[in-house]
Amino acid sequence: ILTKLKRDCATPLPLLQQVANAMSADMRAGLGPGPGPGPGLPMIPTYVDNLPTGNEKGLFYALDLGGTNFRVLRVQLGGKDERVIATEFDQVSIPQHLMFGASEELFDFIASGLAKFASNEDGRFHVSPGRKREIGFTFSFPVKQTSIDSGILVKWTKGFAVSGTVGRDVVACLNEAMERQGLDMRVSALVNDAVGTLAGAEYWDNDVMVAVILGTGTNACYVEQMSAIPKLTEHVSSSGKMIISTEWGAFSNGLPLTEFDREMDAASINPGEQIFEKTIAGMYLGEIVRRVLIKMAEEDALFGKSVPPNLSTPFILGTPVICAMQQDYSGDLHRVGSLLYDKAGVESKLSERKTVLEVCDTIVKRGGSLAGAGIVGILQKMEEDSKGVILGRRSVVAIDGGLYENYPQYRAYLLDSVKELLGTEKSNDVVIEHTKDGSGIGAALLAASNSIYNQDF
Ligand code: BG6
Ligand code: GLC
Repeated sequence: ILTKLKRDCATPLPLLQQVANAMSADMRAGLGPGPGPGPGLPMIPTYVDNLPTGNEKGLFYALDLGGTNFRVLRVQLGGKDERVIATEFDQVSIPQHLMFGASEELFDFIASGLAKFASNEDGRFHVSPGRKREIGFTFSFPVKQTSIDSGILVKWTKGFAVSGTVGRDVVACLNEAMERQGLDMRVSALVNDAVGTLAGAEYWDNDVMVAVILGTGTNACYVEQMSAIPKLTEHVSSSGKMIISTEWGAFSNGLPLTEFDREMDAASINPGEQIFEKTIAGMYLGEIVRRVLIKMAEEDALFGKSVPPNLSTPFILGTPVICAMQQDYSGDLHRVGSLLYDKAGVESKLSERKTVLEVCDTIVKRGGSLAGAGIVGILQKMEEDSKGVILGRRSVVAIDGGLYENYPQYRAYLLDSVKELLGTEKSNDVVIEHTKDGSGIGAALLAASNSIYNQDF
């Protein structure tokens, strides 16, 4: 089973190159004319056509609904010289039941978190008289934006199945919930987490061209020329550019998939969708490993005569668990043994622990390498359209998300793959940076640059 798994998951250079090429081609196809889902990637126009300049001033809030956590944040911006005067945030994990409940419950949870946080504003934060507090709303799901401050939820991803939100404007949902809370604040920017990350990172470093989220889910966005977005002819952008959210989690072309991926997909709440995400993102890596281990146990090759009952529970081995196992460098793999026991009730011998680690490494190597190929696909597309925009100068790819941040092996495979694909010389131009928590502050900055109030006060 292990030999076949390694063969099926292999990511030799020609395969990675094909994936990068297919990513570029699917991006291009997704930008093509016509409304609604066509071929290629979703390639969502974000209506962010001006990134924050550094001149923004005032108090701005951000709401950040990611895959795992909900965050509220406020920032007092001081303009060119002072930039960020003060910032503060609060974070809670999203209760499981809200992921499967009704839309109002989820938005009430968001609005009441905001109300509680806003009620504790201290003297470092202040809004000019007569102005409403403005919000940047990071909503990390596929949204068809209709303007910078409105957008319709296309579908849920990352295991969410909230009823009554798909097809609705999520800003309207939030406004209604804020009204129920008696909160008089205004959403000035609705942004995806990748877009918030790009804005937040670019605020400090003008060479940031691409942002990638590698966490529970995955996505990437980049700065596109308006002339290369045939599906958006009616919008006039003052900069001639717009950030495009690729929603690359939906990519599926030429991926090295296994029976375990197919079974996990079939059992998911969105079969046939988000295949790239299911291959490379944090929500799924541990689950793929678990499925491989079950098969090994069933075929009597691992963990004695019967399948350990807990191992049959879907998602019992989370990606943080396989990550912790891979950080065990002890001779007897003691930590691997105790994690297998604690999480799945599995008693293991040293040889079995070694096998488990090989399975983890195979799945993580495939994930990290494919994520790297995706990044190169985006850089390739940008460079093909306009020579010298990426290569031959410093270009920064800002990455955020728990998977990239916390999984050293995944990070290393990603970086190796980018380097292998670009070659040493070109890869020296491309700086891959970890931007921690940039998306909340990025959303607040976008609320500022899209404020309805004059910023020169
Ligand atoms: C965070 C962003 O830093 O990264 C979130 O602010 C985003 O909006 C996230 O979703 C990814 O987080 P996670 O929990 O999926 O690793
Ligand atoms: C999922 C969402 C996408 C988000 C990504 C990272 O793929 O569809 O909108 O950006 O996860 O959180």
